[in-house]
Amino acid sequence: MKTKAAVLWEIGQPWNVEEIELDPPGPGEVLVKLAASGMCHSDEHLVTGDLPFELPIIGGHEGAGVVQEVGPGVSWLAPGDHVVFGFIPSCGRCASCSTGHQNLCDLGALMGLGKQITDGTSRHHAQGKDLGLMCLLGTFAHHTVVNEASCIKIEKDVPLDRACLLGCGVVTGWGSSVYAAEVSPGDVVAVVGVGGIGANAIQGARLAGAKQIWAIDPVEFKREKAMEFGATHTAASMAEALPLIQEASWGTMANKVIMTMGVGDGGLLAEGLALTAKRGRLVVTNIHPAMEMSANVSLLDLTLMEKQVVGSLFGSGNPRADIPKLLGLYREGQLDLDGLVTRTYPLEGVNEGYEAMREGTNIRGVLVYD
Ligand SMILES: NC(=O)c1ccc[n+]([C@@H]2O[C@H](COP(=O)([O-])OP(=O)(O)OC[C@H]3O[C@@H](n4cnc5c(N)ncnc54)[C@H](O)[C@@H]3O)[C@@H](O)[C@H]2O)c1
Ligand SMILES: [Zn+2]
Ligand SMILES: [Zn+2]
Repeated sequence: MKTKAAVLWEIGQPWNVEEIELDPPGPGEVLVKLAASGMCHSDEHLVTGDLPFELPIIGGHEGAGVVQEVGPGVSWLAPGDHVVFGFIPSCGRCASCSTGHQNLCDLGALMGLGKQITDGTSRHHAQGKDLGLMCLLGTFAHHTVVNEASCIKIEKDVPLDRACLLGCGVVTGWGSSVYAAEVSPGDVVAVVGVGGIGANAIQGARLAGAKQIWAIDPVEFKREKAMEFGATHTAASMAEALPLIQEASWGTMANKVIMTMGVGDGGLLAEGLALTAKRGRLVVTNIHPAMEMSANVSLLDLTLMEKQVVGSLFGSGNPRADIPKLLGLYREGQLDLDGLVTRTYPLEGVNEGYEAMREGTNIRGVLVYD
């Protein structure tokens, strides 16, 4: 069939919205008519080359839609089912999946190639070439074919233009606070960078009972929005936050610091650790350029203060359990998804949406399809 998708052909070029050819789903695969896709910063890393995935590639990894057709062997999904895509597939059988770490499923290793999990070939083609898929998904498109391991079936009551946010940003941010940082009641928490990920790290810290939540972002609009998600204090930079947190925490500093800047910067890690309390934990959620190999860290500070630095992928969560759980919190009015969506665009507005991200005027821009 023919459908439309946003394709990146070369680093540094804009997304090209064009007609593509889509093959029917093979064994273990599903054809999905997408309803919406969030525009996460991780797709921007493809454009800048910070994430060196194979090109050409269809962007987008934060999507939701309705199953249209299932390939041979798919027994638990049927046409009409609503699905959110997990940006890491979960097979349910590997050591990570079977020990409660679906975010680290062995199938995630195939992401950089972006082709189908089953046989490494492509169902998506344009201009005579096979197209890769961001995170094996390619949600900047009206339709896609993905492996069943990437699908999480959800109830039909939640609007898909909100549910899509659970495919990456909400679980990643919320889990960075709740699972990776292990925020507990009474903690002082600092979240560095208030985009789609940081806004949800703030919501996670709030739900976990943090006493103070510091939102640090150079953009005033982001700091204002942060207060709506549950931040109690704001600062424009880590340097500005340092004396303020010192005073407000009676010198103990932030028990948990969560790094959710647009582009990670190893040169700034020491500033993050300066905000971190004794026995505190700094969580690296933001993506650093693949070629960055050094960070500015006082290792003596780590030893003498027993500070911890941990990485976190997909909020260190289990998408099959956490996506329905967080949709439940939305239903009960305890998790704000509506406030995350600053603006919506048609697929053709994808470059405009990323321009708004660069300018800092969106918490999340969302592509909404017919
Ligand atoms: N680990 C994961 O599983 C995972 C998943 C999704 C996204 N990410 C990464 O998380 C990061 C955030 O993604 P996003 O979609 O929220 O991005 P975004 O661009 O929407 O938001 C980033 C925010 O960081 C702010 N910022 C930039 N430099 C800063 C600085 N020096 N100090 C404080 N704030 C600063 C920006 O003003 C912006 O508000 C990206 O690197 C993205 O690739 C990681
Ligand atoms: Zn993402
Ligand atoms: Zn697995």
